[in-house]
Amino acid sequence: MKSPKPLVEIVATGRYLPDRVLTNFELQKLVDTSDAWIRERTGIRERRIAPPDMGAAEMGARAARIAMDRAWVHPGEIDVIVVATATPDRLLPSTACDLQALLGAGNAAAYDVSAACSGFIYALQAAEGHIAAGRAEIALVVATEKMSGIVDWTDRQTCVLFGDGAGAVVVRKATESSGLLSSYIRSDGNLAELLWRPAGGVRVPMDAAVLDDRSHLVRMAGREVFKSAVRSMAEAADQALMKAGLTSEDIALLIPHQANMRIIEAPAKHTSIPLDKVFVNIDRYGNTSSATIPIALDEALEQGRIRRGDRLHAVAFGAGYTWASAVLRW
Ligand code: ACO
Repeated sequence: MKSPKPLVEIVATGRYLPDRVLTNFELQKLVDTSDAWIRERTGIRERRIAPPDMGAAEMGARAARIAMDRAWVHPGEIDVIVVATATPDRLLPSTACDLQALLGAGNAAAYDVSAACSGFIYALQAAEGHIAAGRAEIALVVATEKMSGIVDWTDRQTCVLFGDGAGAVVVRKATESSGLLSSYIRSDGNLAELLWRPAGGVRVPMDAAVLDDRSHLVRMAGREVFKSAVRSMAEAADQALMKAGLTSEDIALLIPHQANMRIIEAPAKHTSIPLDKVFVNIDRYGNTSSATIPIALDEALEQGRIRRGDRLHAVAFGAGYTWASAVLRW
């Protein structure tokens, strides 16, 4: 089967990782854990933590400015800003509107997408829709997460997994054969309680009892998430490949959501992609939720691991429960 002609392409990427490194050894002083346990079960050695006064919008704006500079795009030229985040700076208004103000992108529409770790691919697909429908020429897609602000630092099962960071891409109409060949997004709200923040919204508003039992922070059924992740990433990977008219042999680089080294290996195994064609940086950043894929894409480009014409395959899963996949020709 021939690959479909892409409607949009990524013209440039950028990333922002805070300077502060939090190692497993430091975590040993916070909760009952060990560097050996964390490395063995997750592959994480360290993660980045944003300063207290820096929010998701600021981190995203830093990544976005780099992508915009590389794309030679001025803030006023951006038509739409789609921000994927599970860690909004405020509940109202959107982080995308804050980010728009920081960038001075006064001609854009801006909104958030809430799809947790799958958010970047959801947002990319939304941007594709705006451009394909002729409503926008230039879209900015940003995934930005301050996970350190929503994890429970007394819960060893979750606090060791996450980190802060942001990635951004500038998207415009495809001119040749490079671009987004396919994308696939799915969700299953019946599995919401596998990974969630039970309180702090309008249904169970924040009060003293919520603060006391810490139910406004992330709770996770780790083993169940693990099983669902392996299953859903395999399905998403197959669907996006099929829609792109490709097989795993055509893929030069697999970029899986960086949640856990064993989960990273699962879609590689499923698609028979050797590990040297799988991008991994979880050891340095942990799980930055929606930001893992654009951060990895930016690093892979910087490291020369992507050449013109290469086919890339991104696969993600996250709270919701959500899962997603995209195939790109660079
Ligand atoms: N340090 C030491 N021991 C720990 C820690 C820790 N940080 N966390 C859990 N343990 C203990 C448990 O209490 C348990 O002890 P017990 O046997 O005495 O009860 C033991 O280790 C084994 O626990 P499991 O949960 O069975 O360990 P598992 O091998 O499943 O690893 C993990 C746990 C790493 C959380 C794994 O289940 C996982 O990665 N799940 C997916 C998590 C994930 O990817 N979440 C994010 C996805 S979505 C998104 O990205 C937002």
